[in-house]
Amino acid sequence: MDYYEVIRRRRMVRNFRDDPLEAEAVERIVTAGLQGPSAGFSQGFSFIALESPEDRERFWATNEHNPQPERVRRAPLVVVPFACKDVYLDRYAEPDKGRTDRDESFWPVPYWYIDTGMAALNVLHAAVAEGLGALFFGIPTEDWSALRDAFDVPEAYDPIGAIVVVIPRTTGSRVPPIPDDGRKSRNSFTAAAGTKRSAEEVARRTSRYRVRGTFDGVVPDERSMGSNVVSRRTDTASALKRFVEASLLCGFIASAPATGRYPT
Ligand SMILES: Cc1cc2nc3c(=O)[nH]c(=O)nc-3n(C[C@H](O)[C@H](O)[C@H](O)COP(=O)(O)O)c2cc1C
Repeated sequence: MDYYEVIRRRRMVRNFRDDPLEAEAVERIVTAGLQGPSAGFSQGFSFIALESPEDRERFWATNEHNPQPERVRRAPLVVVPFACKDVYLDRYAEPDKGRTDRDESFWPVPYWYIDTGMAALNVLHAAVAEGLGALFFGIPTEDWSALRDAFDVPEAYDPIGAIVVVIPRTTGSRVPPIPDDGRKSRNSFTAAAGTKRSAEEVARRTSRYRVRGTFDGVVPDERSMGSNVVSRRTDTASALKRFVEASLLCGFIASAPATGRYPT
């Protein structure tokens, strides 16, 4: 499946069959997760992939504070991505990085959670590429100890959430709308994220409908720049458009770091 089609089709699936998944598909999905990028190539994330009824039952027994509905508990595969801060502090204390003080104030945006989130997105996308679906849900900190104990996970590993991978009951894509509220802006930061949404926006977001076929506003408005610009629209512009669209669908908004101190 075309990558952009995977992005367009990915939605959290909550209506699915209980059937087991093909072992090869599970292997590919979990491997895809582990192939995510990592800061400094730290690779400070690990997964547990639970398939047997016993293992899944052990997992659900720890799911107390954000209990998932019974139908979610029947999912044939549960993947839990764990993030390990210590791996990053160790890696960034190495000579090429030099943060030997391991000072956590160096990490205004904790890369261990970012990397593990990216790895989780790989799992969500890989599920779609396999013709399957997935649901990510949070695990409250109150449940972390029980979860670690159940699977002998060291204390240093934080479960950033859990993903169930399933065979969706519904077919076809339910493509989310792309917010048309300034978030697409390339030249200035006008994102509405974080501001209170209007009633109309809330209604729009909660309704299910297909994204429109056109994508206005990513490239500069040709009409305001004269007709020459129309003919100068190139493949680059459309590639950029698709990149921005993909980033928005991933909930990713680029903005310049404020301090210049961000780790690389
Ligand atoms: C970090 C994160 C935590 C989430 N937690 C939950 C959750 O606990 N339960 C749930 O049903 N969905 C959860 N979701 C799914 C979101 O509700 C969903 O992604 C959002 O409504 C957009 O819908 P879509 O993913 O189908 O496009 C979570 C998503 C993310 C990215």
